[in-house]
Amino acid sequence: MSMSTSIYEHPTGSGDPAGAPLDVTAIRRDFPIFETGVAYLDSANTSQRPNQVVQKMEEYYRQYNANVERAAYKLSEQATAEFEAVREKVRVFINARSKNEIVYTSGTTAGLNLVAYSWGRTNLKAGDLIVCTVMEHHSNLVPWQLLAQEKQARLEFVDIDEQGRLRRDQFDALLRQEPRLVAFTHVSNTLGTVNPVKELTAEAHAAGALVVVDGAQGAPHLGFDVQAADVDFYAFSSHKMCGPTGVGVLYGKRALLDAMPPFLAGGEMISAVRLEGTTFREPPHKFEAGTQAIAEVIGLGAAIDYLQGLGYPAMRAHEDALTDYAYESLSELDGVRIFGPPPGPDKAGVLSFDVAGIHPHDVSTILDRTGVCVRSGHNCTQPLMHRLDVAGTVRASFFLYTERAEIDRLLAGLKEAQRIFA
Ligand SMILES: Cc1ncc(COP(=O)(O)O)c(C=O)c1O
Repeated sequence: MSMSTSIYEHPTGSGDPAGAPLDVTAIRRDFPIFETGVAYLDSANTSQRPNQVVQKMEEYYRQYNANVERAAYKLSEQATAEFEAVREKVRVFINARSKNEIVYTSGTTAGLNLVAYSWGRTNLKAGDLIVCTVMEHHSNLVPWQLLAQEKQARLEFVDIDEQGRLRRDQFDALLRQEPRLVAFTHVSNTLGTVNPVKELTAEAHAAGALVVVDGAQGAPHLGFDVQAADVDFYAFSSHKMCGPTGVGVLYGKRALLDAMPPFLAGGEMISAVRLEGTTFREPPHKFEAGTQAIAEVIGLGAAIDYLQGLGYPAMRAHEDALTDYAYESLSELDGVRIFGPPPGPDKAGVLSFDVAGIHPHDVSTILDRTGVCVRSGHNCTQPLMHRLDVAGTVRASFFLYTERAEIDRLLAGLKEAQRIFA
């Protein structure tokens, strides 16, 4: 597969682009949870959070706790300023043109649903085609199913090849049917496949479709440049990138957001309310009804600072080295089958595998006895499990704080599981 690497190099990371190695020992001191001795290999599920993020949220609660944009006193002004400063930080982080293109949501799921409910309900009609893929997380699949049912639209899925990459021949064939919307993930949370977002987007646009990208696994590990890739929508979650739970971002191109009707209605999103009717604020506020997750937004800002302080090139190099090591070591174990592409530019630090004769939940339970946390089951990708013909997988995933020693503990635990079930 030919791949443009440019969109995977983060534009704003302040780390050494030559890839000076991360000082993981120092980094781990920022994460008190590691003092418990846990080997945390489930960052694709949710990441750990450093002190810097927790402290920033605590600062808000202790020093300037107030609602945003509602009150004319200094405390509220300070909270609003911090809240809006994060919007600008996110804009820079994903290189959006304007901070009005940054909608706070409760996470990736909420962002994708917003597109389905607001853009989808308004623009799709019976017989229209939505193209999705078999590797999607349920968050980027079920909303399209519901939308297709409601609008009597068609929904078609691009398959994967034997190594877990999207079948470009099928993608192209579906584009020839002129879909209205193409939805795919930046990085597969099960296979670790990094999709060539820029290429796929250019092809989808040439076919006349809008492009929605699920960035839940992409933004944390690779960063993203929305202008370089030219996507129409990009959704991601704070909690997978060292930030708090309960907050995420939907990027949408300004013209699209302008034309979309509100999804949730209530306080803050209105311009004027009369009994006869209501007018709405400009985006992004039109899509931010009610009190937002203020502390969490502020925490997300601290998480972005933290990641950019380390630098995406260095983080990527670190995760690549761990993936190489884990892939090689797991491949040497009898009875272990790994899903997804081998290590390379289109593989992220996510390894899903099957251990012959042992249910993934049993593997996970045995690993847990030794303090190793992995995900087991369908990883919210049931159609993909079906496609791979497995009930579930064991999944180990890595992040900037992961150490080789944790992978060694995984391997030791797997050998122990094999011994018990022999
Ligand atoms: C690829 C992908 N998409 C979407 C989601 C949903 O994210 P959230 O639960 O934060 O909305 C996840 C979370 O696991 C994911 O990995």
